[in-house]
Formats: sequence, C-alpha cells, structure tokens
Amino acid sequence: MNERTETLRQAFGERYGQEPTAWVRAPGRVDLMGSHTDYNLGYVLTLSIDRDTWIAAAPRDDRLVRVASLNADTFGQFDLDAIGHSPEAPWVDYLGGTADALIQAGYSLCGCDLLVHSTIPLGSGLSSSAALEMATALAFSNLGGWEIDSLEMALIGQRAEHQFVGVKCGILDQYTSALGQAGSALVLDCRTTTSRPAPIPDEISIVICDTRAKRELTGGEYGERRASCEEAVEILRPYYPEVEALRDVSLAQIEQHRAELGETRYARASFIVAESGRVPRLAQALEQADASAIADLTRDSYLGARDLYAIGTPEMEAMWQAMWQAPGRLGARQAGAGFGGCMVAFCAADQVDAFRQGVQAAYQTTTGIEPHTYAVRPAPGASILNLASDMTVA
Ligand code: GLA
Repeated sequence: MNERTETLRQAFGERYGQEPTAWVRAPGRVDLMGSHTDYNLGYVLTLSIDRDTWIAAAPRDDRLVRVASLNADTFGQFDLDAIGHSPEAPWVDYLGGTADALIQAGYSLCGCDLLVHSTIPLGSGLSSSAALEMATALAFSNLGGWEIDSLEMALIGQRAEHQFVGVKCGILDQYTSALGQAGSALVLDCRTTTSRPAPIPDEISIVICDTRAKRELTGGEYGERRASCEEAVEILRPYYPEVEALRDVSLAQIEQHRAELGETRYARASFIVAESGRVPRLAQALEQADASAIADLTRDSYLGARDLYAIGTPEMEAMWQAMWQAPGRLGARQAGAGFGGCMVAFCAADQVDAFRQGVQAAYQTTTGIEPHTYAVRPAPGASILNLASDMTVA
C-alpha cells in the first residue's frame, strides 16, 4: 500500500468512522495545441497527465452525500433528492453538478461519504475540475454497481459545468480526463467526439510551466470569446449555408468577409481556424521529432492566442519569453483557457533540468514570482483503482 492510499484511508476513517469501499481516480490534462477550438467543433491535441484526483468512497443508507477533500479546508454535503449549490465550498458544486447530471440521465445514485485528494494544482488550467467530475461519476458508478461509457461520462461532466457550475465549456477537459491514454497524446475531433492516438517520442519531454498568476474562468472572458465565435458563424452562414461552426470555415472565407465581421470577430475567427489547422501538423511534427516545425507551430499558436484571441497576460508573456530562451527548448505555448495559469513547453528529454532552471531564473527575474515547472507524462484516463495492483498509477 503506498503513502497516498494510507493517508486517504486514515483521513477517511477519522472523518467518517469507517473504511472506504470504493477507490477511483481521474487525471488532469494539458492541451498541446488547439486553444478554444473545442467549442468551435475543431481539433485539439491533448494529453492526460500523471497528476490526478482520487476519491475514496463508502455508501450510506440514506440519500445524503458528504464531501471532504485533503486539498481544501472547506467541506460540504448535498441531498440527492434536492441537490443545491454549496456557496461556502464552491468546489463541492463539481460533485453536486455531476450527481445532478447523472440523475437526469437516468442513473440511480446512492448516498455516500466521499474523500477527495488531488495532485493536480487546483485552478491552474490543468482541468482539476473535470478530473473531479470524472472521478465523481466513477465513484457513483462503482458504489451503485452500474457501468457508464467513458464518452457518456465526459458529456455528463460537461453538462454539470453548463447547467450547475455555469461555465459553457467545450468537451476537451472531460473527454481527456475520461478517455486519455497511457503513453500517448490524442488528436481529438470535437465534432465527432472521437480521437486517435498521437505518439510522442521518448526524446521529447513535456514540461508544464505554471505562471502562478491568478486565473478566474467564470469571469466573462471565456463566454465573450465563445460569443464572438458564434456571432462570426451567424454572419458567415448566409453566404455558406453548410457552415455550422468555425470548424467549417476557411481562412479565405474569413478574409473575404473581414469588413462585415468587424475587427474583433475577424481576429477571433482567424485564430480559431488557424489553430485547429495546426493540430494535425503538430501531431506529425512531434511524431517525427521535427524541431523546426515544433518551434514554428507553437510560436504561431502563442502569438495568435496573444494578439488575435487576446487571452494573454503580462505573466504569460514573461513566461513565454523565459521558456523560449531556455536551454533545450523545442517549442512553447499557452495551455488551457489562457488568462494566466499554466503554459506548456516541449524540450529535449536530456535537458529537462537545464530547461527548468533557465525558465525559473528568467521568469522570476522579470515578474518576481517563483514559478512551478515540472515534466508530465501521458497517463491513462479515469479508472477504478484496484488497491492490490493499481496503486502505482499516479
Ligand atoms: C477550458 C474549457 C475547455 C476549452 C479550454 C480552451 O479548459 O473548459 O472546454 O475551451 O478552456 O481550449
């Protein structure tokens, strides 16, 4: 039994006075290419990472769900027959929202005591929320003795965000946490919600560089970006009736209707179409370890995110400069929704230490903030933990 299991088991006993009977885990994710393309039904190159959220659980004989976390001072509870929000512990809404969406989908849930532990830095753009949703769904499925398809589980998590949490996210985070693969990134097609594996050679390391600058997704920016994209589609559709999303639009069409779109929508739409097009190209560049293509594609992605999609911040700029100049760098760009949080770099596997030191020194000199940097590896999607054999997963 490893340390993490033991810590959770002990804390569970102290809080709830019994042993957990179910153990589940779900990973965080980092997008390697394809910012904001998911809700435009485009492509994303995404990776489920070896940082994850565990839930230890035990059933109750009433309809109450009690929730605590080793990562939070707050705790909460909800009644499965009248699930309300938890203003004093907003993170509990990810569990309540998932339970609510599962019930709406016809699953029968039982009351339970849950204890959460996560190694995903919370709220930094690595999908700690989606991991919590996927782990919650699996915990209910395991306790209830029923199975749920991974894609359906991802869609349920997205519904929880839309209906309960109030963030109109795409499918990227939940899909990756539910369906990620060990040893490989995924090229995700957000229209068909299908994916194919995209191998990353051993000589390339993926390094998360956390700006540790404040990030708040429920602010209006995310919804505004999404609205601009939808408005651009409405403006273009009379000319091209087959257009349902920016996925269906070409750069030439955007160029042709620039004046009608107006500068902001023109900039947003151009970024999305170019960014989605970079996804298969980066997958190929990584597979072939093509250093110059990796550099070009990630630079274009960052500059587009900063100048066209306007999701940059001064700290992200300082971090990108630090990553770009660090030894061993192959490529560097934003990650997640932007507006601070984590960024992602590709570097030569034998230079990870030098790369991280270079980034840390340069970023701290410019911003006065000590960044967090760490290499991540592809990990499997959400799964039930088998105490006897699985405990080495994360
Ligand atoms: C957040 C959302 C995702 C996606 C990314 C940006 O993580 O939850 O659906 O839109 O931002 O790519």
